[in-house]
Amino acid sequence: MNHPAFASNHVAVVTGAASGIGLAAARRFAGLGMNVVLADLPGERLDKAARETAAVSPHGPDSVIAIATDVSSTDSLEALQAGAIARFSRVHVLMNNAGIQPGSAIFGAQDAWEKVFAVNLWGVINGSRIFAPAMIAHGQPGLIINTGSKQGITTPPGDPAYNVAKAGVKAFTEALQHDLRTTPDCNITAHLLIPGFVHTGLTANGRTEKPEAAWTAQETVDFMMQSLESSDFYILCPDNDVARATDEKRILWAAGDIIENRPPLSRWHPDYADAFKAFLAKDRPGIS
Ligand SMILES: NC(=O)c1ccc[n+]([C@@H]2O[C@H](COP(=O)([O-])OP(=O)(O)OC[C@H]3O[C@@H](n4cnc5c(N)ncnc54)[C@H](O)[C@@H]3O)[C@@H](O)[C@H]2O)c1
Repeated sequence: MNHPAFASNHVAVVTGAASGIGLAAARRFAGLGMNVVLADLPGERLDKAARETAAVSPHGPDSVIAIATDVSSTDSLEALQAGAIARFSRVHVLMNNAGIQPGSAIFGAQDAWEKVFAVNLWGVINGSRIFAPAMIAHGQPGLIINTGSKQGITTPPGDPAYNVAKAGVKAFTEALQHDLRTTPDCNITAHLLIPGFVHTGLTANGRTEKPEAAWTAQETVDFMMQSLESSDFYILCPDNDVARATDEKRILWAAGDIIENRPPLSRWHPDYADAFKAFLAKDRPGIS
């Protein structure tokens, strides 16, 4: 049983679809008989992804198109929406998934901050704002899935621009879902995909073999589909290293920094190392 938005002949648009989680999702949607629009930066990678996706569609190549898109440009996202509507009339599933992680430092290059925000945060905000009105208006069931990150929730040290952008994706998607559920006659819901460690172009660093700890993109999409079937908003994926129980404790500890008046990111503060270790070892720790 899939969510009703995933019906055969319905339409899915996936950004960042030339690789990784986006490509796995595009292939899954096509396999269900959906019409699929793959959006990514122009080039052979995108065209190849569209051919691979069409190959698994029961409806053949006419049901899959690639539209070269730069999600950091509103013009480009508007052209994507217009192209999807021109070809398939309406959109049921929008997956704002394109992302980059070039690295950043608090006092590092301005350009890195702006690029990461433009793709990972503005790409998601603008994608949602551009597609949602027509998705609401057609009245059929639909989903907006925005790809966030655990780094936007527990905000570990090391890549602050990525964390801030992904924290923004979480806050935006929560607000979006609140808005959708209070909109009369709205059949669209929003969801936050929170992948674990997934072996993709983003994390591979030239490595072809999947690290033991990582999930495949397909496993991540399997988990996403199960979670959407039960209408979960937070799609908190585990991986081969981190079980859900550990994620829950890490999230609780991060929230506990405020409640317990600890320093921020106390999980990585040497004075709190033992306390955090003990917290992780407890069966079901509360915040205080
Ligand atoms: N892989 C992980 O462990 C992991 C963990 C948490 C979150 N994520 C998130 O998952 C999403 C998908 O990433 P992935 O891991 O599949 O990586 P990936 O690199 O395999 O795929 C990302 C895709 O986004 C595309 N992209 C980049 N900039 C773009 C732009 N301006 N316009 C259009 N497309 C653009 C890339 O070309 C690429 O095809 C990202 O948002 C990423 O932040 C990944």
